[in-house]
Amino acid sequence: MKIISNPRELKNYLKEQKGSVGFVPTMGALHDGHISLIKNARTQNDIVVVSIFVNPTQFLAGEDLEKYPRKDESDKKICQISGVDVLFFPQVEDMYTDDEVRVVAPNVRGYTLEGHSRPGHFNGVLTVVMKLLNIVSPTRAYFGKKDAQQLNLITLMVKQMFMSVEIVAVDTVREKDGLALSSRNVYLTQEQRKEALKISSSLYLASNLIKQGVVDVEEIKTQMRKHLEPLEIVYVEILNRDFEYIKEVEVAKSIVLVEAIVGTTRLLDNLWV
Ligand code: PAF
Repeated sequence: MKIISNPRELKNYLKEQKGSVGFVPTMGALHDGHISLIKNARTQNDIVVVSIFVNPTQFLAGEDLEKYPRKDESDKKICQISGVDVLFFPQVEDMYTDDEVRVVAPNVRGYTLEGHSRPGHFNGVLTVVMKLLNIVSPTRAYFGKKDAQQLNLITLMVKQMFMSVEIVAVDTVREKDGLALSSRNVYLTQEQRKEALKISSSLYLASNLIKQGVVDVEEIKTQMRKHLEPLEIVYVEILNRDFEYIKEVEVAKSIVLVEAIVGTTRLLDNLWV
Protein backbone atom coordinates (compact mmCIF):
# COMPACT_ATOMS: atom_id res chain seq x y z
CA MET A 1 0.00 0.00 0.00
CA LYS A 2 1.29 3.42 -0.98
CA ILE A 3 0.86 6.28 1.51
CA ILE A 4 0.76 9.79 0.03
CA SER A 5 0.14 13.06 1.85
CA ASN A 6 0.64 15.58 -0.92
CA PRO A 7 -2.44 16.22 -3.14
CA ARG A 8 -0.36 16.96 -6.30
CA GLU A 9 1.74 13.83 -5.80
CA LEU A 10 -1.44 11.73 -5.44
CA LYS A 11 -2.96 13.31 -8.57
CA ASN A 12 0.21 12.61 -10.57
CA TYR A 13 0.46 9.06 -9.25
CA LEU A 14 -3.16 8.25 -10.10
CA LYS A 15 -2.81 9.76 -13.59
CA GLU A 16 -0.25 7.04 -14.38
CA GLN A 17 -2.52 4.18 -13.21
CA LYS A 18 -4.90 2.27 -15.47
CA GLY A 19 -8.41 1.07 -14.64
CA SER A 20 -11.32 2.20 -12.47
CA VAL A 21 -10.71 3.98 -9.17
CA GLY A 22 -12.91 3.44 -6.11
CA PHE A 23 -12.55 6.11 -3.44
CA VAL A 24 -13.52 5.97 0.24
CA PRO A 25 -13.16 9.32 2.05
CA THR A 26 -12.96 8.99 5.85
CA MET A 27 -11.95 10.90 8.96
CA GLY A 28 -10.14 7.84 10.32
CA ALA A 29 -10.83 5.89 13.54
CA LEU A 30 -11.86 3.18 11.10
CA HIS A 31 -14.51 0.64 12.13
CA ASP A 32 -16.50 -2.10 10.39
CA GLY A 33 -18.69 0.54 8.71
CA HIS A 34 -15.62 1.94 6.93
CA ILE A 35 -14.37 -1.58 6.17
CA SER A 36 -17.69 -2.30 4.47
CA LEU A 37 -17.20 0.83 2.27
CA ILE A 38 -13.68 -0.35 1.42
CA LYS A 39 -14.91 -3.90 0.60
CA ASN A 40 -17.52 -2.47 -1.76
CA ALA A 41 -14.87 -0.32 -3.42
CA ARG A 42 -12.50 -3.30 -3.63
CA THR A 43 -15.00 -5.55 -5.41
CA GLN A 44 -16.12 -2.89 -7.90
CA ASN A 45 -12.84 -1.22 -8.93
CA ASP A 46 -9.29 -1.90 -10.09
CA ILE A 47 -7.68 0.60 -7.69
CA VAL A 48 -8.90 1.53 -4.20
CA VAL A 49 -7.97 4.86 -2.62
CA VAL A 50 -8.88 5.70 1.00
CA SER A 51 -8.37 9.14 2.52
CA ILE A 52 -7.96 9.82 6.22
CA PHE A 53 -8.38 13.48 7.04
CA VAL A 54 -10.09 15.00 10.09
CA ASN A 55 -11.54 17.95 8.25
CA PRO A 56 -11.53 21.06 10.49
CA THR A 57 -14.00 23.05 8.38
CA GLN A 58 -16.90 20.70 9.16
CA PHE A 59 -16.55 21.17 12.93
CA LEU A 60 -18.26 24.17 14.50
CA ALA A 61 -16.54 26.23 17.21
CA GLY A 62 -16.71 24.31 20.50
CA GLU A 63 -17.27 20.92 18.83
CA ASP A 64 -15.04 17.85 19.24
CA LEU A 65 -12.35 18.62 16.60
CA GLU A 66 -9.51 18.44 19.16
CA LYS A 67 -10.68 15.25 20.83
CA TYR A 68 -11.98 13.51 17.68
CA PRO A 69 -10.54 9.96 17.86
CA ARG A 70 -7.26 9.60 15.94
CA LYS A 71 -5.90 6.09 15.42
CA ASP A 72 -3.40 6.62 12.62
CA GLU A 73 -1.28 3.51 13.08
CA SER A 74 -4.15 1.02 13.50
CA ASP A 75 -6.02 2.74 10.63
CA LYS A 76 -3.02 2.17 8.35
CA LYS A 77 -2.99 -1.53 9.29
CA ILE A 78 -6.73 -1.85 8.64
CA CYS A 79 -6.29 -0.27 5.20
CA GLN A 80 -3.40 -2.58 4.38
CA ILE A 81 -5.31 -5.71 5.46
CA SER A 82 -8.42 -4.55 3.57
CA GLY A 83 -6.54 -4.39 0.26
CA VAL A 84 -6.32 -0.60 -0.11
CA ASP A 85 -3.87 0.41 -2.86
CA VAL A 86 -3.33 4.04 -1.89
CA LEU A 87 -3.87 5.78 1.43
CA PHE A 88 -4.16 9.57 1.16
CA PHE A 89 -3.11 11.04 4.48
CA PRO A 90 -2.86 14.83 4.15
CA GLN A 91 -2.26 17.42 6.86
CA VAL A 92 -4.48 20.50 7.22
CA GLU A 93 -1.90 22.69 5.41
CA ASP A 94 -1.93 20.27 2.43
CA MET A 95 -5.68 20.81 2.04
CA TYR A 96 -6.35 24.44 3.03
CA THR A 97 -4.84 27.90 2.71
CA ASP A 98 -6.24 31.26 3.87
CA ASP A 99 -9.08 33.11 2.18
CA GLU A 100 -10.15 30.33 -0.14
CA VAL A 101 -13.01 29.47 -2.44
CA ARG A 102 -15.54 27.37 -0.50
CA VAL A 103 -18.55 25.25 -1.45
CA VAL A 104 -21.83 26.44 0.08
CA ALA A 105 -24.57 23.96 1.02
CA PRO A 106 -28.07 24.65 -0.37
CA ASN A 107 -30.14 27.14 1.67
CA VAL A 108 -32.90 24.71 2.60
CA ARG A 109 -31.59 21.15 2.47
CA GLY A 110 -28.23 22.21 3.91
CA TYR A 111 -29.85 23.85 6.94
CA THR A 112 -32.45 21.32 8.08
CA LEU A 113 -31.89 18.50 10.59
CA GLU A 114 -28.12 18.16 11.15
CA GLY A 115 -27.63 21.41 9.23
CA HIS A 116 -30.04 23.16 11.62
CA SER A 117 -28.32 21.96 14.78
CA ARG A 118 -24.85 22.47 13.24
CA PRO A 119 -25.23 25.49 10.91
CA GLY A 120 -22.35 25.60 8.41
CA HIS A 121 -21.36 21.97 9.00
CA PHE A 122 -22.33 20.91 5.48
CA ASN A 123 -20.38 23.80 3.89
CA GLY A 124 -17.29 22.19 5.39
CA VAL A 125 -18.29 18.68 4.34
CA LEU A 126 -19.05 19.70 0.75
CA THR A 127 -15.89 21.80 0.47
CA VAL A 128 -13.60 18.98 1.56
CA VAL A 129 -15.45 16.35 -0.49
CA MET A 130 -15.18 18.59 -3.59
CA LYS A 131 -11.43 18.95 -2.96
CA LEU A 132 -10.98 15.22 -2.35
CA LEU A 133 -12.97 14.24 -5.45
CA ASN A 134 -10.94 16.68 -7.55
CA ILE A 135 -7.68 15.29 -6.20
CA VAL A 136 -8.58 11.60 -6.66
CA SER A 137 -10.88 11.86 -9.73
CA PRO A 138 -12.44 8.51 -8.85
CA THR A 139 -14.76 6.43 -11.00
CA ARG A 140 -16.89 5.75 -7.91
CA ALA A 141 -16.94 7.24 -4.39
CA TYR A 142 -18.45 5.39 -1.43
CA PHE A 143 -20.47 6.94 1.40
CA GLY A 144 -22.43 5.34 4.24
CA LYS A 145 -26.22 5.60 4.44
CA LYS A 146 -25.83 6.32 8.16
CA ASP A 147 -24.96 9.92 7.29
CA ALA A 148 -28.01 10.10 5.06
CA GLN A 149 -28.21 13.89 4.83
CA GLN A 150 -24.50 14.13 3.98
CA LEU A 151 -25.01 11.45 1.31
CA ASN A 152 -28.00 13.34 -0.12
CA LEU A 153 -26.09 16.65 -0.27
CA ILE A 154 -23.00 15.09 -1.84
CA THR A 155 -25.19 13.38 -4.45
CA LEU A 156 -26.84 16.75 -5.17
CA MET A 157 -23.48 18.53 -5.40
CA VAL A 158 -22.11 15.98 -7.87
CA LYS A 159 -25.25 16.25 -10.01
CA GLN A 160 -25.58 20.03 -9.87
CA MET A 161 -21.86 20.69 -10.44
CA PHE A 162 -21.90 18.24 -13.40
CA MET A 163 -19.19 16.10 -11.85
CA SER A 164 -18.62 12.68 -13.41
CA VAL A 165 -18.07 10.50 -10.33
CA GLU A 166 -20.68 7.86 -9.41
CA ILE A 167 -21.76 8.13 -5.77
CA VAL A 168 -22.37 4.71 -4.22
CA ALA A 169 -24.52 4.48 -1.05
CA VAL A 170 -23.56 1.66 1.32
CA ASP A 171 -25.79 0.19 4.06
CA THR A 172 -25.22 1.09 7.70
CA VAL A 173 -23.31 -1.50 9.72
CA ARG A 174 -24.71 -2.21 13.19
CA GLU A 175 -23.61 -4.00 16.33
CA LYS A 176 -25.63 -7.18 17.07
CA ASP A 177 -27.84 -5.18 19.45
CA GLY A 178 -28.69 -2.60 16.75
CA LEU A 179 -26.32 0.28 17.63
CA ALA A 180 -25.12 1.89 14.40
CA LEU A 181 -21.31 1.94 14.16
CA SER A 182 -19.82 5.41 14.51
CA SER A 183 -16.34 6.69 15.33
CA ARG A 184 -18.01 8.74 18.08
CA ASN A 185 -19.29 5.59 19.90
CA VAL A 186 -15.91 5.49 21.70
CA TYR A 187 -17.06 8.51 23.74
CA LEU A 188 -19.88 6.45 25.34
CA THR A 189 -19.64 4.91 28.80
CA GLN A 190 -21.19 1.43 29.18
CA GLU A 191 -24.29 3.00 30.71
CA GLN A 192 -24.59 5.56 27.89
CA ARG A 193 -24.12 2.83 25.29
CA LYS A 194 -27.21 1.08 26.72
CA GLU A 195 -29.18 4.35 26.60
CA ALA A 196 -28.04 4.88 23.01
CA LEU A 197 -29.84 1.69 21.95
CA LYS A 198 -33.07 3.66 22.21
CA ILE A 199 -32.07 5.41 19.00
CA SER A 200 -32.01 2.29 16.81
CA SER A 201 -34.98 0.73 18.63
CA SER A 202 -37.04 3.89 17.95
CA LEU A 203 -36.29 3.38 14.25
CA TYR A 204 -37.41 -0.26 14.45
CA LEU A 205 -40.56 0.92 16.23
CA ALA A 206 -41.26 3.28 13.31
CA SER A 207 -40.58 0.51 10.81
CA ASN A 208 -43.00 -1.86 12.61
CA LEU A 209 -45.70 0.81 12.73
CA ILE A 210 -45.27 1.36 9.00
CA LYS A 211 -45.46 -2.42 8.38
CA GLN A 212 -48.73 -2.42 10.35
CA GLY A 213 -50.09 0.21 7.96
CA VAL A 214 -49.54 3.42 9.98
CA VAL A 215 -48.50 6.11 7.49
CA ASP A 216 -49.21 9.36 9.34
CA VAL A 217 -45.81 10.99 9.90
CA GLU A 218 -46.86 12.97 13.02
CA GLU A 219 -48.32 9.88 14.66
CA ILE A 220 -45.15 7.84 14.08
CA LYS A 221 -42.94 10.71 15.28
CA THR A 222 -44.99 11.08 18.48
CA GLN A 223 -44.55 7.40 19.33
CA MET A 224 -40.84 7.58 18.55
CA ARG A 225 -40.38 10.63 20.77
CA LYS A 226 -42.07 8.80 23.68
CA HIS A 227 -39.83 5.79 23.09
CA LEU A 228 -36.69 7.95 23.10
CA GLU A 229 -37.41 9.51 26.52
CA PRO A 230 -35.42 10.62 28.51
CA LEU A 231 -32.77 11.18 25.82
CA GLU A 232 -32.21 14.74 24.60
CA ILE A 233 -33.70 14.62 21.11
CA VAL A 234 -32.16 16.89 18.48
CA TYR A 235 -34.63 15.78 15.81
CA VAL A 236 -36.96 12.96 14.85
CA GLU A 237 -38.03 13.26 11.24
CA ILE A 238 -39.51 11.30 8.37
CA LEU A 239 -38.69 12.53 4.88
CA ASN A 240 -38.80 11.26 1.35
CA ARG A 241 -35.56 10.07 -0.23
CA ASP A 242 -35.01 13.54 -1.73
CA PHE A 243 -34.98 14.91 1.82
CA GLU A 244 -38.30 16.71 1.39
CA TYR A 245 -40.90 16.89 4.16
CA ILE A 246 -43.91 14.59 3.77
CA LYS A 247 -47.18 14.09 5.67
CA GLU A 248 -47.59 10.39 4.90
CA VAL A 249 -44.97 7.67 4.57
CA GLU A 250 -44.64 6.18 1.11
CA VAL A 251 -43.29 2.67 1.60
CA ALA A 252 -39.84 2.08 0.06
CA LYS A 253 -39.54 5.82 -0.68
CA SER A 254 -38.99 7.33 2.80
CA ILE A 255 -36.30 7.73 5.47
CA VAL A 256 -36.84 7.88 9.24
CA LEU A 257 -34.08 9.89 10.94
CA VAL A 258 -33.12 10.50 14.55
CA GLU A 259 -30.42 12.53 16.22
CA ALA A 260 -30.11 12.49 20.00
CA ILE A 261 -27.51 13.49 22.56
CA VAL A 262 -26.36 10.72 24.88
CA GLY A 263 -24.24 12.15 27.69
CA THR A 264 -22.45 14.79 25.64
CA THR A 265 -22.25 12.72 22.45
CA ARG A 266 -24.37 13.47 19.42
CA LEU A 267 -25.53 10.27 17.77
CA LEU A 268 -27.48 10.00 14.57
CA ASP A 269 -29.10 7.09 12.85
CA ASN A 270 -31.75 6.39 10.23
CA LEU A 271 -33.70 3.66 8.54
CA TRP A 272 -34.70 3.66 4.86
CA VAL A 273 -38.32 2.49 4.91
O1 PAF B 1 -18.37 11.07 6.75
C1 PAF B 1 -17.21 11.48 6.99
O2 PAF B 1 -16.38 10.76 7.56
C2 PAF B 1 -16.82 12.88 6.58
O3 PAF B 1 -17.89 13.77 6.70
C3 PAF B 1 -16.21 12.96 5.17
C4 PAF B 1 -17.22 12.56 4.11
C5 PAF B 1 -14.99 12.05 5.08
C6 PAF B 1 -15.77 14.39 4.88
O4 PAF B 1 -14.84 14.84 5.80
